[in-house]
Amino acid sequence: MTPLVVGAAQFGLTYGRHQRPPVSRAEACAILSLAERLGCGAVDTARAYGTSEELIGDIGTSLDIVTKIRPIRESDAAAAVTASLDESLAALRTPQLGTVLFHRASDLSLPGAVDAVRAAVANGRVHRWGVSLSTPPELLEVLAVPDVQQIQLPFNLLDRRWFSPEVQAGLAARPEVSIVARSAFLQGILRDPSAATWPRGGQPDAMTVRGVLTALSTELGRSIPALCLGFVQAQPWISDLVVGVRTAAQLQEAIDQLATPLSAAEQDLIRDRVPAGSSPLLDPSTWT
Ligand SMILES: NC(=O)c1ccc[n+]([C@@H]2O[C@H](COP(=O)([O-])OP(=O)(O)OC[C@H]3O[C@@H](n4cnc5c(N)ncnc54)[C@H](OP(=O)(O)O)[C@@H]3O)[C@@H](O)[C@H]2O)c1
Repeated sequence: MTPLVVGAAQFGLTYGRHQRPPVSRAEACAILSLAERLGCGAVDTARAYGTSEELIGDIGTSLDIVTKIRPIRESDAAAAVTASLDESLAALRTPQLGTVLFHRASDLSLPGAVDAVRAAVANGRVHRWGVSLSTPPELLEVLAVPDVQQIQLPFNLLDRRWFSPEVQAGLAARPEVSIVARSAFLQGILRDPSAATWPRGGQPDAMTVRGVLTALSTELGRSIPALCLGFVQAQPWISDLVVGVRTAAQLQEAIDQLATPLSAAEQDLIRDRVPAGSSPLLDPSTWT
């Protein structure tokens, strides 16, 4: 088994900093079949990822499927949750959804939303539920919900927000909640930092990050992408990593890079040398 979860936003949307078109059906087949052979735990999709669920359902997979409830805009949140689950079950062609996450942490507070998911768990349409979130305050709020089972959050080697004592104490108090990290490459820009793709105003700037990561890469004998994945994998509070891939070759590369975990000394070196990223850099929803 590998801790890698296949990110499937790329299956159904024009996506990411480089605005790549959705992967073809043939490539999606190749990615899913390689993921099954190499022991990936799951594929991560969402009702809001264009045709991603439909494509996965059409191809069929033995991987566990994590999907997300469409961000809720309706006044009747319970009905919106139920409708989203119905659509996911139909698109994925399955009688039961493995893991269902709220796509926005703020949807949890809408009257009836959580109870609608709990009802779907009780009647067997959903196996387990959780939340995809973006910030430490959201994490602390979600960790206070007693029956939440999985949390997905963004994390990479520039992101120090999750190391605060408050966050780490909150995580330590809920060891049964599985924490899944996404965006280890920050939509790809950390693999090869360049001013051309760097978000405007993001600090540190691209050349600083490039210089530090290039030096660490030489010193530790690992590529920059391997450092990005290895740093996330090494965190004891993270169980799995969602990595967005557009080809089976990219998936193979990521799995190979996860095969040799970073030592504690290598992690310390990264934390010492790589400057912390600013909020505008770490939050893609603010990028222009
Ligand atoms: N819950 C949420 O709100 C939320 C938000 C965002 C993402 N997600 C999930 O997390 C997944 C991953 O997030 P992400 O895509 O933002 O971040 P990521 O995994 O950090 O970056 C993925 C991107 O890195 C590049 N890449 C990956 N492997 C590569 C390789 N071997 N060679 C060259 N380039 C490579 C590709 O982009 P290029 O080829 O374009 O460079 C790919 O699209 C998504 O698919 C989705 O399932 C969830």
